[in-house]
Amino acid sequence: MKILGVSGSPIYNSNTDRALKVALEATGLETEFLKLREYTITPCRACIGCVETNRCVNIQDDGIMLAEKVKEADALIIACYTPYSSLDSLTKAFLERLYPLRHKHGFMAGKPGGVIVTGAIPDTKKALPPACDMAIQAIMFYMMEEGMNFVGAVKILGNVPCIKCGYGNECKTSGIKMIYGNEATVQSVGVNTFEEQLDAFHAARELGEKMASALKKKI
Ligand SMILES: Cc1cc2nc3c(=O)[nH]c(=O)nc-3n(C[C@H](O)[C@H](O)[C@H](O)COP(=O)(O)O)c2cc1C
Repeated sequence: MKILGVSGSPIYNSNTDRALKVALEATGLETEFLKLREYTITPCRACIGCVETNRCVNIQDDGIMLAEKVKEADALIIACYTPYSSLDSLTKAFLERLYPLRHKHGFMAGKPGGVIVTGAIPDTKKALPPACDMAIQAIMFYMMEEGMNFVGAVKILGNVPCIKCGYGNECKTSGIKMIYGNEATVQSVGVNTFEEQLDAFHAARELGEKMASALKKKI
């Protein structure tokens, strides 16, 4: 039994990556971690050429190999981040390229699926877009449409890029001010790390454990 973990976060060793690794480790099963930025993944061209062969016949990039890996895995955890309040485009392109696994056979049906999402907007900021929830929904609906067993989702509070750009305190469009108010500064907001968010840390472990038990029940 193998659980595949796929991270769409472009930052190496990001909060998203580390949370995914915690979840994978908690499964106690064989796992593989994939970082999407290391691959070339073009969005689906909707040619429907994959219907007969369950394989992309239009785009010669890493999307074909990644779809094969997903097909061979027994369960899938997708981790992403939320630029402009939605699922990041690399993860979205990756999902689109899983379309060949659908036709006639439904290769993903019944497989346990989990989601990990990092966003910079705290859940308490109700006036701002619910970025994590929107990304979770996008992935959850993919899993639902493929007949997968959606096991759960974990939200992590990440960092607005303005924390480290060097102009976070004075930029007219500072995300720090947008999220935390005009008085907020780089220093007052600070850096969010996954490991310090104990609820998220435990939720990531729990997701891994639930994935393993869903998989054992299935087999
Ligand atoms: C171009 C860009 C736009 C972003 N827009 C949003 C946003 O609208 N909402 C949000 O919650 N986070 C936004 N973020 C912040 C990311 O979600 C945040 O950097 C996240 O912590 C990255 O995850 P990582 O640290 O695991 O890589 C944005 C980041 C980038 C680079």
